[in-house]
Amino acid sequence: YNPELIRNISIIAHIDHGKTTLVDRILEITKSIDNRKMHDQYLDMMDIEQERGITIKAQPVKIMYPAKDGNTYEINIIDTPGHVDFTYEVSRSLAACEGAVLLVDASQGVEAQTVANTYLAIENDLEIIPAVNKIDLPNANVEETLAEIEDLIGISADDALKVSGKTGEGVEELLEEIIKRIPAPTSKGTSEDKLKALIFDAKYDKYRGVIIYTRIYGGTVKTGDKIMTMSNKETYEVVEVGIFHPEMQKTDSLSAGEVGYIIAGIKEVELARVGDTITSATDPIDEPLPGYKEVKPMVYAGIYPGVPDYYEELRKALDKLKLNDAALTFNPEHSPALGFGFRCGFLGLLHMDVVRERIEREFELAIILTAPNVVYKAKLKNGEEIEIHDPTQFPDQDLLEEVYEPYVKLDIITPTEYMGGLMGVVQNEKRGEFVSVSNAGKDRVVMHFEVPLGEIIFDFFDRMKAISRGYASMDYELIGFRKSDLLKVTILVNREPVEALSFIAHRSKLYEMSKKMVEKLKDLIPKHQFEIPIQAKADGRIIARSTIKAYRKDVLAKCYGGDITRKMKLLEKQKEGKKRMRQIGRVTIPQNAFLAILKIN
Ligand code: GTP
Repeated sequence: YNPELIRNISIIAHIDHGKTTLVDRILEITKSIDNRKMHDQYLDMMDIEQERGITIKAQPVKIMYPAKDGNTYEINIIDTPGHVDFTYEVSRSLAACEGAVLLVDASQGVEAQTVANTYLAIENDLEIIPAVNKIDLPNANVEETLAEIEDLIGISADDALKVSGKTGEGVEELLEEIIKRIPAPTSKGTSEDKLKALIFDAKYDKYRGVIIYTRIYGGTVKTGDKIMTMSNKETYEVVEVGIFHPEMQKTDSLSAGEVGYIIAGIKEVELARVGDTITSATDPIDEPLPGYKEVKPMVYAGIYPGVPDYYEELRKALDKLKLNDAALTFNPEHSPALGFGFRCGFLGLLHMDVVRERIEREFELAIILTAPNVVYKAKLKNGEEIEIHDPTQFPDQDLLEEVYEPYVKLDIITPTEYMGGLMGVVQNEKRGEFVSVSNAGKDRVVMHFEVPLGEIIFDFFDRMKAISRGYASMDYELIGFRKSDLLKVTILVNREPVEALSFIAHRSKLYEMSKKMVEKLKDLIPKHQFEIPIQAKADGRIIARSTIKAYRKDVLAKCYGGDITRKMKLLEKQKEGKKRMRQIGRVTIPQNAFLAILKIN
């Protein structure tokens, strides 16, 4: 153990800019994993991550690099999650490092999320090494990429490196620069100090309990030690410590500056929160590391079993997922339309999608996911403040004082020619406020807006890509809740309110959304023997209406089918459940009508 020879780094890169390929090359050059085990893309280990090419868990890797100066250095590369839903996790992974490689694809240029993550690194006082990747590509544009790095991030690109993760060109030079430019962890604490360790990720293992991914700031931790998580003062006895080589490898101890894992019989990841500080239970430090916060779900949706018999199975699945996913929340709820299910909270839509996919794949359960909504806050006339996770919780107008919705700071980097189009959508359709624009290299700009989260979370990414032919990129960050003129729209089918169809709309979009909704429902609800009015009510008035005419011949067959969840090759019995209809008063409503709100945007 010689902390002078340790370097802890992260690689900041946009999706597909070649981070995994570069790390694979580094592993190969330093012979860190034998060829038998070497498979492409070592870092992205979870199935879904691999398929989607995104990282969710911050998988670290330790390599030993024999440098030109004759010393062998330990380099810990901490992978960071690659999606805006996980910004907090990214910031904690960066907090575990002294430096970062800013990797930019020379054929693509700097993307918005890269800029945001680089700022996070700068906030965490990291030394940044810019590196232009994929220089082997014929359309690599190294000079322009360097200019963008200077413009957008404001760091000099003079000492930027030029590499190709694919051919290996420049990779050794990069390793040498990491050794030279990134400081050893020694200035942040020594092994003589009291134990102070950052939890930058945690994973649940069904045999060993929670595996904490940690960076030690001060002191030493070893088997048998009594440790304490500072946010909740829970104490544990350490069962094992070790490093990532890249598989977990048991060691005698972990000391200041090192990155590794701790196993201490912790039962669920909720008790070992990302960003929390571990210290000694017998000789604790006074102050935890800065930056800890409890992440809160920003998006809620209902999850229901395809058939009611599977409710318990679904609960078990969610319980299991929760063991490994502290950010997921769920509470039982009942809907007259869908029966018993759960209201689940997610960090964002990607997080929601991953949960859905894991339930279907790992637990083989067909589920119905209701339309997601962001979280709102409300102040009632009696002074009470509430959070709204579901349109049905929206208070009656006469009880309501004020409603608030979450706002984000939205940054879009785009070629200049698409600026007008994007500006139009954000301002006219998404209730966004333009803040400023600045240059981002040649023929590109970065635009800043403030926009309600609820407006960009659902389809904005696709709109942006369509308008810019795929060239624009975006990033957003929550800036808080703002007062907003929001209303609940109640849908009446055959004059009976159907709570499960209600939704929340901004006043400026009230008529448009209500109109679309009643029209959509007209298509989705089959004809009956009598005429069925469908009405949208808000502010105490009916504001939109459509009518389903009485039927003459049997057209029921037509409205069946049309799977509402994707890629389902699951149990036939469960599938059958999805086709069932719900009786609301005298009207039979197919389940997919309850997802109509998803289809009107
Ligand atoms: P995420 O895990 O999604 O963040 O992607 P990543 O940044 O890890 O990118 P990955 O390494 O998967 O590379 C993306 C694509 O670029 C793959 O098709 C690679 O083969 C290719 N690629 C990566 N590095 C290079 C390079 O240096 N040159 C060329 N020509 N292609 C590269």
